[in-house]
This record gives sequence, C-alpha cells and structure tokens, in this order.
Amino acid sequence: MKKKWMVFVCLLCLSAVSWGCSGGGSGASTETETQAVDAAKNGDAKILTVYFTMPETDGTDAVSGASRIVENGDVVGNTQFVAQQIQDTAGGDLFQIETTKTYPGDHDALVDEASQEQDEDARPELSSEIDNFDQYDVVFVGYPNWWGDMPQAMYTFFDTYDFSGKTIIPFVTHGGSGFSDTISSIETLEPDAEVVSSGLSIARDDVADAGGDIKTWVEDLGFAK
Ligand SMILES: Cc1cc2nc3c(=O)[nH]c(=O)nc-3n(C[C@H](O)[C@H](O)[C@H](O)COP(=O)(O)O)c2cc1C
Repeated sequence: MKKKWMVFVCLLCLSAVSWGCSGGGSGASTETETQAVDAAKNGDAKILTVYFTMPETDGTDAVSGASRIVENGDVVGNTQFVAQQIQDTAGGDLFQIETTKTYPGDHDALVDEASQEQDEDARPELSSEIDNFDQYDVVFVGYPNWWGDMPQAMYTFFDTYDFSGKTIIPFVTHGGSGFSDTISSIETLEPDAEVVSSGLSIARDDVADAGGDIKTWVEDLGFAK
C-alpha cells in the first residue's frame, strides 16, 4: 500500500524542490564543523544522545523497512536503533524524548495525527526531562522525518532546553526525504549552538544493517570511547 507521505515526497521531487530523495547517507563535515566538533571533544566532553521515535504497531513485521526493528529480541524504532548504536560507540548518556499524549500505533492514524499537528504548529507536551542538561557539551539529536519536517515534539524539545555553547549533531531516519530542511530549522531554533550541518541520514530500509556505518561515522567525528 502506498503511504500518504510517500506521495508527498514524490510530489516534492517532481516539483524539483530538493528534499534529498536519494535516501540520504552521512555527508563529509565541512572544515568549520570539524573545528566545532574538535573544540567540543577537546578534553573530556560530556556527550548525550537524545532521540524521538514512534515505531508503528501495524504493518507487516518487525523487520527492516518497517518503522521498527528487532535488536537482541527487543522491538525498537528505527531512530532508537540508530541512537543506541551512536551511544554504544560514543559513550555518554542516552535519553528518549517522550510525550504525555499517546500517538496511534496504526500507520494511517499516525500520519493523519502528525499532519494535523504540523498544520497547527503544535507543541506536544513532553513527559520526560533531562537531568542537569547544562553538563553536556555535545548532543547527538535524532528524529524520524515526518512530512518533510521534524515531529512537532522536537520543536517542544528545542523550546525547552537551552543549547547555548553546545554542539548539536543531528541524525535522522526517513523514507526517502533525508533531513529535508530540518537542520536549518535547528540552526534557527538554537542560534547560540554549533550545529553540525552534515549530520547522519539513514533511510528506513537501511537502518537494520547500518551498525557498521554508524560506528564509522561516530569514530570519524572523533567520539569513539
Ligand atoms: C507520520 C509519518 C510521516 C512520515 N513522513 C515522511 C516523509 O515526509 N518523508 C520521509 O522520507 N519519510 C517519512 N516517514 C517515514 C519515517 O521517517 C521513517 O519510517 C522513520 O524511519 C521512522 O522512524 P521511527 O521508527 O524511529 O519512528 C514518515 C513516517 C510517519 C509515521
């Protein structure tokens, strides 16, 4: 069954708006970004990996290509899987962004809910809080691409925490759109942070096999523990 947001992605491709329809992949860091990361990891930078994930409960199976995969017998969302791999390599703390509202597990209901939230520019209330956020120097921030944007809960997240002086390293999982314009959105939301604009983008079909690439990406940034 064709997914509603896939039609949206294809229309964007056809109209030549650049959403990165190739399926993503990690890009090389620019010199400025490398300097930012160098500065951040200098000494013993405190690292946090945060992510939002919403694994769908319907669909075929918990297999690669669905919005959930099996990791050591546990079913995890795509973005959660990537976040866990990053933390495994980089060390530091891991935090899941959660909301007080419950999203539908059913795909169609979830895409409708996400679309409505986006139309309303909603700020879903968060139910979890990061202890002593000030202590972190480097924050890997991950989310699924929803309708060519971040889930609205990510906007609540960026409204909630002050990233001044921190380095943000974004990562995304997606069905063909890559980051869309989300990195510029983060730069706008957090003007006093260093945002590594190349980030890591992994297509949903590739997530389950991406462990090696994720490890290499984190190591190339210089954050291997
Ligand atoms: C509400 C919703 C909207 C989506 N919109 C897009 C989109 O616009 N472009 C895209 O490439 N993928 C889109 N996807 C696919 C997700 O980005 C992809 O399945 C992602 O890996 C899900 O991550 P998760 O399992 O961590 O929630 C959408 C998925 C959902 C549920």
